[in-house]
Amino acid sequence: MLHSQKRKIIAGNWKMHKTIGEARHYIDLLSKIKADPNYKILLGVPFTALPAAVEAAAGSNIEIGAQNISEHAEGAYTGEVSAHMVKDAGAEFVIIGHSERRQHFHESNDIVHAKIRRALAEKLQPLVCVGETLEQRKEGHTESILAEQIHSALSGLTAKEGSQLMIAYEPIWAIGTGLVAELEKIEAVHRFCRRQVSDLLSDEVGFQFKILYGGSVNASNAASLLESDEIDGVLVGSASLNIDSFSKIVNNPKRT
Ligand code: PGA
Repeated sequence: MLHSQKRKIIAGNWKMHKTIGEARHYIDLLSKIKADPNYKILLGVPFTALPAAVEAAAGSNIEIGAQNISEHAEGAYTGEVSAHMVKDAGAEFVIIGHSERRQHFHESNDIVHAKIRRALAEKLQPLVCVGETLEQRKEGHTESILAEQIHSALSGLTAKEGSQLMIAYEPIWAIGTGLVAELEKIEAVHRFCRRQVSDLLSDEVGFQFKILYGGSVNASNAASLLESDEIDGVLVGSASLNIDSFSKIVNNPKRT
């Protein structure tokens, strides 16, 4: 089986956008769109919109998730939201270790790992983001940075636990900048990431493992990314905010 025969993921990351009403309206529209059956659609929504989004997505092929969780189970952590609460609100997955969280909220690889464990304990699927800065890329450190992030994320997990994860490779310099990494370079990085997963867990898990690409994915470049055997899906930020542009990614006439 080629990687391309696996069902591909199209994940939207709304970041700090959309009220409850806006979320409901968007999902009502999106669930009416005839999506390519080869795609599974994920939406990472703000905490406040989780229950409404889950309700609006019921019976559709859209899965709702959160964009973050606390690394703690519960306790005196003012302002934090636990994996258990997110699960209780109906989320099926959670984005963990997005570069904006690593950068603005100082999330280390250790914190990312602790959050992955919390998610797994609640049966929330972790979508773990990894990626290098422009400086790291220029200095030739892309692979060592990714290896460090992936090793830390998966450390001590059994093959069964690790197989629950997905990774999104998001070069930091490509996020929100309009710059997309060249396809061959993305494919090479994905091959590298898959090798890490295989080495750490098992060849079987590595083969099945979903590795998404993110960073300035939009309606014009998504099709060629999704056609690649090495790319199991895309994580879309700004182009997921607008229902028209996201619909074009989801309902892609080029894909057969
Ligand atoms: P972008 O964001 O599509 O706006 O570049 C992607 C992301 O941050 O996940």
